[in-house]
Amino acid sequence: MHARDFEFALAASAAVPLPQPDRKADDCDPAFRKDVLDGLSQSRKVIPARWFYDLEGSRLFEQITGLADYYPTRVETALLRQCASLVAARLGTAAMIVEFGSGSSIKTRMLLDAMPQATYVPVEICGAFLAESCATLARDYPEVAIVPVEANFMDPVQLPPSRDGGPVLGFFPGSTIGNLLPSAAVDLLRTMRVSLGAGSNLLIGMDAVKSTDRLLRAYDDDEGITARFNLNLLHRINRELQGTIPVGAFRHRAVWNAGWTRIEMHLEAMDAVSFEVAGEPFRLDEGETIHTENCHKYTPQQMRLLLQAGGWSETRHWTDGNGDYALILAEAVPDECGP
Ligand code: AVI
Repeated sequence: MHARDFEFALAASAAVPLPQPDRKADDCDPAFRKDVLDGLSQSRKVIPARWFYDLEGSRLFEQITGLADYYPTRVETALLRQCASLVAARLGTAAMIVEFGSGSSIKTRMLLDAMPQATYVPVEICGAFLAESCATLARDYPEVAIVPVEANFMDPVQLPPSRDGGPVLGFFPGSTIGNLLPSAAVDLLRTMRVSLGAGSNLLIGMDAVKSTDRLLRAYDDDEGITARFNLNLLHRINRELQGTIPVGAFRHRAVWNAGWTRIEMHLEAMDAVSFEVAGEPFRLDEGETIHTENCHKYTPQQMRLLLQAGGWSETRHWTDGNGDYALILAEAVPDECGP
């Protein structure tokens, strides 16, 4: 898979997605071109969320994580502070921590504070970013052995052996799992289990179903940052794919889909619009949308079931007083034949 492909959005699990290099008009990413042309050619138009994260999109996402209405980052950070010592008490302070899509490793620091003799294995597709964040961590955590792995964690990853066969802990914060369709989320959990091996553990963040009003505010904030984040995708298409999209004719829409328990982000045409992308003509009717992201929210039972389908069994579940967000510690279910 291409470096600026799906795992790019998954890298957001580390709080801030990796910024992509800005491209000149004649230097387009063929995978971006294909996704946009294919997506706009469908009767229900769609562009995958991974393409949000150019430099501007990454900057806007960082702003989103600091918004009062966007609770996930704030609540998860508080939960991590609370649970890190309990995870350390369970697995020991010298476990091997494997972070999938480590990005800037900001949240990892809370785990490393509680597990100072850990081996830290950040798995990241972008080698340059990996080297930079490892150098910063190494300065701040001299006792931690850092073993970077440059790889796409959507596929099984070859990991170093844990010290003396000790415990292995996968780490996947940010509720990034929620940006995947359930079937893809199950596939990823299964792949992580293969990568981490028998007897391993996984600490994963999942966002909870809550009042529609609060969810809509988190994804359609008063300051309009999420709207800019969504609309930036159209600017990116214009810049990188010779698009002529009239961005001002679109508006950001966040919609709660109760059947799928997810927030959907769309870009809605306020008038009938015609434009070109990479020389291809497209048209949207007034009110027609381009679907840009799914953010699945889970009930406690859905969280457990998703993990079970992916080969994991929940052992601890931490949540805030409102039950807004959960950090879950799970164990790999042994392979065994059913009856
Ligand atoms: C990266 N991901 C976990 C975010 C989310 O909440 O689903 C992306 C996001 N989209 C709009 N706001 C935040």
